[in-house]
Amino acid sequence: MLCATTTGSLLLAAIFSALTLLYPSNAQLSSTFYSSTCPNVSSIVSSVIQQALQSDSRITASLTRLHFHDCFVNGCDASLLLDQGGNITLSEKSATPNNNSARGFDVVDNIKTAVENSCPGVVSCADILALAAEASVSLAGGPSWNVLLGRRDAVIANQSGANSSIPSPTESFANLTAKFFAVGLNTSDLVALSGAHTFGRAQCRFFNQRLFNFSGTGSPDPTLNSTYLATLQQNCPQNGNGSTLNNLDPSSPNTFDNNYYANLITNQGLLQTDQELFSTNGSSTISIVNNFASNQTAFFQAFAQSMINMGNIKPLTGSQGEIRSDCKKVNGS
Ligand code: HEM
Repeated sequence: MLCATTTGSLLLAAIFSALTLLYPSNAQLSSTFYSSTCPNVSSIVSSVIQQALQSDSRITASLTRLHFHDCFVNGCDASLLLDQGGNITLSEKSATPNNNSARGFDVVDNIKTAVENSCPGVVSCADILALAAEASVSLAGGPSWNVLLGRRDAVIANQSGANSSIPSPTESFANLTAKFFAVGLNTSDLVALSGAHTFGRAQCRFFNQRLFNFSGTGSPDPTLNSTYLATLQQNCPQNGNGSTLNNLDPSSPNTFDNNYYANLITNQGLLQTDQELFSTNGSSTISIVNNFASNQTAFFQAFAQSMINMGNIKPLTGSQGEIRSDCKKVNGS
């Protein structure tokens, strides 16, 4: 007969194996992965972004978002970057959350070209997205962190996965947390990572359901500050152009800071999913929002850790996948 401890250990081992299957080990990711094969990769990435910033103040935000949209679909494997064509019949780029929305792909290509010039065939496009997100946040005034590296690139894309796994801005709070849980991230990660909406833009079509007839009530979303509501109604009139841009954080549109959380406290979250973090009755996220609004250091620390957590979602490592030579195409296609 098995004693209680042995049964316990077997149970733990079984749970551990199940978790390992769900979230394959990221033990192979390492901050020194390219230290001998491409020691300057971080500075190459950063300098191309700095160049792009001169003509596009939004690019740091756009690149940060690409890493998120990559990692939530089949893990951080650069599947997002693949163009339709050849074996890629349905790209992630053309999935609903990305089509006419995700941007910065040209800058990713410029980064890849610069990296290939120094270290040909070595650095994956998935790692370039992780490095570009860190460099972008840091260049915009946010935290820096040691990016874990060693991801490899997918040879497939998953458009239906992009449609189902990337949260929509009209998602209920319950669905939002469920989509984070599904990739191994918790509600603290959700609150910290949503802080990326401290920079960048959003088109009217992503939040205009809040402005005039919220959920069929005939009135605007009650959790919208009335002055802010008036501004948004003016910029996004009924039957107006859904692609008009709005700053996600009007108080400091291009700076990575903790103003996003102060906005939530004053009912000035732009997306419904932003405001839900503070306005969902009884939610554990409220105290986290309050903490980040009053303590930028706490936010920066949590954001960096949650970006590492997100970057660890199901990477391809070892002999899995490939190192793409063109981020838009599977090798040999
Ligand atoms: C929590 C669920 C989230 C939802 C529902 C959401 C939704 C959106 C939407 C609808 C936009 C506007 C896109 C457009 O107008 O074309 C946007 C922009 C943005 N998102 Fe999120 N997002 C979420 C989480 C995140 C996370 C985790 C990050 C990164 C860590 C992120 C980073 C950004 C950035 C930086 C922008 C501005 C992009 C630009 O200006 O090009 N978002 N998001």
